[in-house]
This record gives sequence, C-alpha cells and structure tokens, in this order.
Amino acid sequence: MAQVDQTLKDRKILLIVGGGIAAYKALDLIRRLRERGGQVRVVLTAAGRAFVTPLSLASLSGQPVHEDLFSLTDETEMGHIELSRSADLIVVAPATADLMAKAANGLANDLASTLLLATDKKVLMAPAMNVRMWLHPATRRNAARLMADGILFTGPADGDMACGEFGPGRMSEPLEIVAAMTQALSGDTRLPLNGDVAVPACLLKGRRIVITSGPTHEPIDPVRYIANRSSGRQGHAIAQAAARAGAHVVLISGPVSIPDPVGVEMRRVETARDMLSAVEAALPADVFIGAAAVADWRVEGTSDSKIKKTPAGSPSLKLAENPDILAQVSTRSSGRPQLVVGFAAETNDLLEHARAKLTRKGCDLIIANDVGAGSNVMGGTHNKVHLVSRTGVDSWPLLDKDEVASRLIMRCAELLAGSEPE
Ligand code: CTP
Repeated sequence: MAQVDQTLKDRKILLIVGGGIAAYKALDLIRRLRERGGQVRVVLTAAGRAFVTPLSLASLSGQPVHEDLFSLTDETEMGHIELSRSADLIVVAPATADLMAKAANGLANDLASTLLLATDKKVLMAPAMNVRMWLHPATRRNAARLMADGILFTGPADGDMACGEFGPGRMSEPLEIVAAMTQALSGDTRLPLNGDVAVPACLLKGRRIVITSGPTHEPIDPVRYIANRSSGRQGHAIAQAAARAGAHVVLISGPVSIPDPVGVEMRRVETARDMLSAVEAALPADVFIGAAAVADWRVEGTSDSKIKKTPAGSPSLKLAENPDILAQVSTRSSGRPQLVVGFAAETNDLLEHARAKLTRKGCDLIIANDVGAGSNVMGGTHNKVHLVSRTGVDSWPLLDKDEVASRLIMRCAELLAGSEPE
C-alpha cells in the first residue's frame, strides 16, 4: 500500500474514462489515487462502457459513476456544472481522439465533453489511440489547440499498440499519470516539457526550426562593447520546447550565461552581422523565430586597440545601423520559412508598435511584450505576451517563460498542420 501523498490527500479528482483498450488502466489509476488519499469521481463515456463496467469503476472509486448528461438522478444529486467545478483537477484517461477533438472545438454533446467545457479547473489528458490516429494532422492540430488553451498532457508513450503497430499512442502508465497529477496539483503553472506532462513528442517531427536568442555584443574596442539586458531565457526555452516536440532545432545565440538547451544544434555568435550569417547558413527551415534582442546599432570604425583616456576628452562613437535579421528572413524571395515569428519588446504603445512591426517586417506573428520599467521581463523568469497576427490579438496571462515557450510551439504546430515539411 502506497503512502498517503500530501498533494493528493483529500483532493477531489474527476476522472473521465474514454473508450479504448487503455480504459482498463483507469481501474489501476483509481486504486493508486485512493491509496494516496485522493477522492475520485468517475465519468464514463458511452464508448468507455464498451471496455470497462460502471460497476468496477464504482467499486474501486467508492462513488457512483456518472454517465448521462440528462440523468435526473445525477442532476438532483449533483448537476454537471457542479460536478466539473467541485473537482480540484480533471483527468481524462484514456483521452481518445474523439474526446480531444470535442474538447478542442468546444463541443458539448455528452456528459464528458460538457464537463470539459464547463470547468474552470486544470485538465490533464492522457491520450491513448492508434499511432496513425495520433499522427493524423487533425489530432496534431487538436493537441496543439488544447495545449495552447492550457490543457496539460501526459504522454502518449511510444510502444506496441494493441492493434499490432508500434509508435506513439500508448497511454502513460497509471503511476506516470499520478506523477503528472501531483505536479499539476502542486500549483506548478509551468508546462513541463519532458517526463510526466509532455508536449506530444512527435508534434514537430520532421520540421526544422531556426531560432535566435540572447543579446548581441557590438564591439567598441577589444575590451568594450554595446549590449542589452537580454538573458536569452525566452529564446532558449522556445528552442527547448521545439526540440522536445521533435523538431530539428538550430539555436543561434548571442553571448548568454544560461545553459544550452538539450538536443539542439548550437551556433554561438557575438555580433548582429555574425548572427545574420549564421541564420542564412541555417536556412532553409519550416519556421524562423527571432527571439534575440539584436542590437540595432554597431560602432563604426571599431578600434583595434584599447581606447585610452586622453586629456583631449571623451571619445565620440559613430553608430551604424545593423541588418534587420527578422525582416531579411521574412522578405526572402526564395526559401522563406513557412512561418516567421518575431518579438516586439516595447516600453509603450505595445500593440500599436507590434502591429506596425508585423507589417514593416513582413512576418506572420509578433510576440509582443512590455519591457517597460518594473516589468522585469528582460532577464526575468516570467513573461506576459500578446500574439499579434494579421487576424487579431491573442493575450496570454503572466506565465513562466517555459510555458510561454511550450504554448508558442503548440501554436506553431497548429499553424503548420497539414503543410509539407521543408
Ligand atoms: N530583430 C532582428 N534584427 C535586428 C533588430 C531586431 O532580427 N537588427 C528582430 C528581433 O529578434 C525581434 C524583432 O526584430 O524579433 C523586433 O525587435 P525589437 O528590438 O523589438 O524591434 P526593432 O527592430 O529594434 O524596432 P524598434 O527599434 O522600432 O523597436
């Protein structure tokens, strides 16, 4: 018998069991959760009923099982709104392609989908389906949509499927789901990208993504340079999220003091002009994301030796404009990436400047963030961004930079869905 888990103890879990061979694992999941002190209420879909019986779910959970949206008994005991809101966490296991499609599109034609639409709580999905269904553009689009909406995922894992195929689609094991639930319940707002709560690992498989990150350093003389406060955290987090989603990532970084993301091809550069050459060498790609805080100007006629103080007074620096990397990538006549994403760091009139940048630089999406005094975005751990595209603005809440990264990668996957890889 497992020990009571302080995060799960007395927490109300609403478990939605969809239809699939993996539904049998829901029985073990209920047992594991109750051992740890959790309270589980089960909703069984019509398809789920073909794989597990309400009686076994009720016996293990110690609570009646809910199946019918219009059941009078259920409504008098507990309405569906109350059912979804009284939970601390909603878990969908197995999350079938059908349940994901409904949730991604806001359908509410049965109890499970209605609860997912009515809830104001975190939702964790454990997908389980045939590998072809998981890899189908429609499911990839739905997974991306759900991720962008803040739904958490655990798995699916690679494995032998009941249908005799091998690949991603096997539901996470009950203890993996328990670990993901503990993480979700512990108030961690990040979307962890590996381990238990994962961006679908093959979401960007076969795609090549080039990302710039960090500041650039523009030398004045051999010991001095012009720079800015960028830490590279946001760009590096995006590279990490893209790599975990299965993309081939080339990360072109200015000088930063944070670790390299795992599983990406690194190119280290100093100046804006070096960064442009590295980007050009890394193209073609499916996606270009310009997250670097590229210095707008460089010093013209840098000195080969250290500039010394002289009685003649302070030296004056003549600045020259640097190439605009984002604009150059965006306006390439051939080999333009399908998706070009830029950032707009502004201290005032954020959306107005962001829209102007979208048009001026010809990119598809601008991630606008307020870097005004007190925002603590540059160099900080969190970011509040607005996604500005030609069709409108999508504003996200204040999020950890890792979560901004994973949501952005989900959005990119959604925008790329259905197109051929580069
Ligand atoms: N950018 C770039 N090359 C430059 C300057 C900026 O690729 N020489 C990219 C950044 O990586 C970012 C976007 O352009 O994705 C906007 O950067 P930002 O510094 O906000 O804008 P600027 O181009 O500097 O425009 P402004 O000076 O009007 O703010």
